Amino acid sequence: MEMVAVILAAGKGTRMKSRWPKVLHRVAGRPMLELVLQAVREAGASRIIVVVGHEGEAVAALLEGQAEVVWQTEQLGTGHALLQTQELLSGFTGDLLVLPGDVPLVRGETLRSLWERHRAAGAAATVLTTELNDPTGYGRIVRNRDGELSRIVEHKDATPEELTLREVNTGIYCFGPQIFSVLPQLRPDNVQREYYLTDALALLLQAGQRVCCWKAPEAEEFKGVNDRKQLAEAEAVLRRRVAEELMASGVTLVAPELTFIEPGVRVGSDTIIYPFTFLEGRTVVGENCVIGPWSRLRDAVLGQEVILEGGAVIIEAELEDGSRVGPFAYLRPGSRLRAGARVGTFVEVKNSVVGPGSKIPHLSYIGDADIGAGVNIGAGTITCNYDGEKKWPTVIEDFAFIGSNTNLVAPVRVGRRAYVGAGSTITKDVPEEALGVARSRQVNIPEWTRRKRR
Ligand code: UD1
Ligand code: CA
Repeated sequence: MEMVAVILAAGKGTRMKSRWPKVLHRVAGRPMLELVLQAVREAGASRIIVVVGHEGEAVAALLEGQAEVVWQTEQLGTGHALLQTQELLSGFTGDLLVLPGDVPLVRGETLRSLWERHRAAGAAATVLTTELNDPTGYGRIVRNRDGELSRIVEHKDATPEELTLREVNTGIYCFGPQIFSVLPQLRPDNVQREYYLTDALALLLQAGQRVCCWKAPEAEEFKGVNDRKQLAEAEAVLRRRVAEELMASGVTLVAPELTFIEPGVRVGSDTIIYPFTFLEGRTVVGENCVIGPWSRLRDAVLGQEVILEGGAVIIEAELEDGSRVGPFAYLRPGSRLRAGARVGTFVEVKNSVVGPGSKIPHLSYIGDADIGAGVNIGAGTITCNYDGEKKWPTVIEDFAFIGSNTNLVAPVRVGRRAYVGAGSTITKDVPEEALGVARSRQVNIPEWTRRKRR
């Protein structure tokens, strides 16, 4: 049986007090809507439709290639929002999974079990419910004497007695195609003058259809994000979830509450991560690494036994086995440290290869360089890779030795086993095994101080 997911994301999200649509606000580094898309994909949706409206262009841009977009030009309520998909789904006979776009914590497996329960019951609709200590703002589940759903009443429309109910509507449902026969019957006769999707359940019951509820044991997943406080709460929950999964897989987080790891990041076992470390994007860390404190990795790839001292910032760079970075080093996009390479204190590397076992221990800038194996770069060496218009390459061949405080004016090449004298400004290639020195000779003026005193 086919399942189509419909995500309702046309609402304004007024309480965010933002110029951006609510579902594009990020939780653990990812737009909320993207987390929901991933969950419905994991649940087995073969097609995803997102209803957009308020700030819809920005939402549609995110969805390109990921989901179909349907416009709800006027936000007349959740029932009206679902109705906008009717045309796109004409002739569809499978199941619909309907959910809001602002539930970033919902898990794919939970949505999948909702769908399975819906199928097993042969229901026309199944509502996912949960129990909350503070149900303020949510629609309440009203059950009849036999314990079956009779209707859902919105907080704003509820009687004082109904307000004491703690079982709430999560806003997540499975529907059969019959839903489209009752949606046109919705009427906005409520406090908010909206076409409530929740009223469709009572209409299905009146039409003699089977409607079920599934009460999920844990409420945390269904917490919606309506304001910045809830955004921060969702962030904390998601981060804790990622941290717990990593710890369960054999990663040591010295202080999980102070470690910031985005979902999708992979870390190998026996790696130790110190506090105030950020692992972001598509970062992959191998086994037995030691990272941090205070390090930031974005789209970085680390092999095994890599050591990042405190203050390393690694963006779109690759560090092979046994390489070592920091403290206080910046590896920019396109940097690649081969096995056992070492980049030390206050060093910046951009778009360069540092060969196996090579060392750049202190205070250097290396850009657009190709450094061979076993090279030593003295403190304060920089590549002058930019002439104001173009970037030029520097090549340093195997086992070369670059003296401290050298300027390598690119394009330039230092040959195999060549030496460069400290303080040189190298503008011409240095041949293999040669010594290149480019500085004026020292002159000592005898008794200069004594004469000056007289
Ligand atoms: C809705 C439910 C409520 C449930 C709660 C769970 C209704 C009437 N009520 O209330 O029972 O407890 O969710 O969070 O459904 N949207 C549109 N178009 C619209 C209106 C809303 O796309 O015209 C979207 C919103 O962007 C949002 C979702 O639908 O993603 C829910 O809308 P919202 O207004 O937040 O409903 P709630 O009042 O929270
Ligand atoms: Ca809501």
